[in-house]
Amino acid sequence: MILVTGGAGFIGSNFVLDWLALHDEPVLNLDKLTYAGNLESLSSIAKDPRHIFIHGDIGNPTLVAQLLAEHRPRAILNFAAESHVDRSIHGPADFIQTNIVGTFNLLESVRAYLNGLDSEGKAAFRFLHVSTDEVYGSLQPGEPPFAETRRYEPNSPYSASKASSDHLVRAYHHTYGLPVLTTNCSNNYGPYHFPEKLIPLCILNALSGKSLPIYGDGQQVRDWLYVKDHCSALRRVLEAGQPGENYNVGGWNEKPNLEVVHTLCHILDALRPRPDGASYTSQITYVTDRPGHDRRYAIDASKLERELGWTPAETFETGIRKTVQWYLDHGDWVSNVSSGAYRQWLDQNYAAR
Ligand code: NAD
Ligand code: DAU
Repeated sequence: MILVTGGAGFIGSNFVLDWLALHDEPVLNLDKLTYAGNLESLSSIAKDPRHIFIHGDIGNPTLVAQLLAEHRPRAILNFAAESHVDRSIHGPADFIQTNIVGTFNLLESVRAYLNGLDSEGKAAFRFLHVSTDEVYGSLQPGEPPFAETRRYEPNSPYSASKASSDHLVRAYHHTYGLPVLTTNCSNNYGPYHFPEKLIPLCILNALSGKSLPIYGDGQQVRDWLYVKDHCSALRRVLEAGQPGENYNVGGWNEKPNLEVVHTLCHILDALRPRPDGASYTSQITYVTDRPGHDRRYAIDASKLERELGWTPAETFETGIRKTVQWYLDHGDWVSNVSSGAYRQWLDQNYAAR
């Protein structure tokens, strides 16, 4: 079996669902169920014996050692993290604890676990660490996209904590020979995305008649990848990646935020027109910028294509249409995540902007 951490979050739940649709190999899913973890995203496999859910913290050494000894996974995919830049600005402590200390704990537990495996088990084992393009910092207009050789220059508490975890993963390979793989992916979007991030937030705000908050001038560029393409890249890296290597994952879809929000509005105008006939773009509002806001991310994913033959299946146009349709079709999921705690976050992040 494989051990997935953070498998009740946005990307982790998509990964688990896709994995079990494609394989019979069981998944042990360790998740702390923070505000971002949602078992409802996994309701379709709630009774599937191939999915074992454990409610717990990657930072708990006793629990992790016990799970490894009992279930003897052949691989770990580490999705568990605090993942939202804005929350890291309001309160970085949880990011240090989960992203750095939690990853350190997993690495230490794996080190001990590998000592107990025979040489065949050791050679086959993989620790795949799911990281982000934000560790590379911000690009100037016209600069080439981030390659794996780009130096790390994280700018937010979130990206600094992810960069730290990447360095620990790298060090455990060099020092102890841990068979690690690190992936650095650009912005994901798609089903089960918690509506604190730009795309789901704007879809839900548009439909409920609220403003669509654009930070600063809206000309910050992100490189968008449909989440299922990220999951297929992770499966490919797990299968054929070279231990000790980093792989960038991206969709070659650089877009300014304002253009993304306009695209969402136009899709909604066609699929769910406003009763007054106006475009949803009329709800766009400019608000105070994010402190230290990175201007541009762009991923050069050519190593993954060249060495492992991976390419994304979706363009931004196909993926974003599917995403909007998914949110229109999943009103129950949406109303359950838009709970009291979520509304508190909206007040904290937007009231003073
Ligand atoms: P998410 O916030 O939606 O989900 C994170 C999950 O981790 C949640 O289920 C949460 O309950 C769980 N978790 C948090 N702390 C934990 C702990 N201490 N122990 C166990 N579980 C814990 O995040 P996501 O968007 O799905 O991102 C998953 C991973 O991918 C993260 O490592 C993130 O840095 C990385 N990533 C995300 C994106 C993106 O665009 N969302 C892009 C590149 C990389
Ligand atoms: O690049 C990969 C990263 O993408 C991941 O590592 C992170 O886990 C993930 O959260 C995401 O980070 P971003 O900060 O880019 O995502 P977010 O959706 O928060 O913001 C996308 C852009 O939109 C960013 O430039 C900020 C802007 N924005 C965001 C929100 C929530 C707005 O203009 N208004 C908003 O209300």
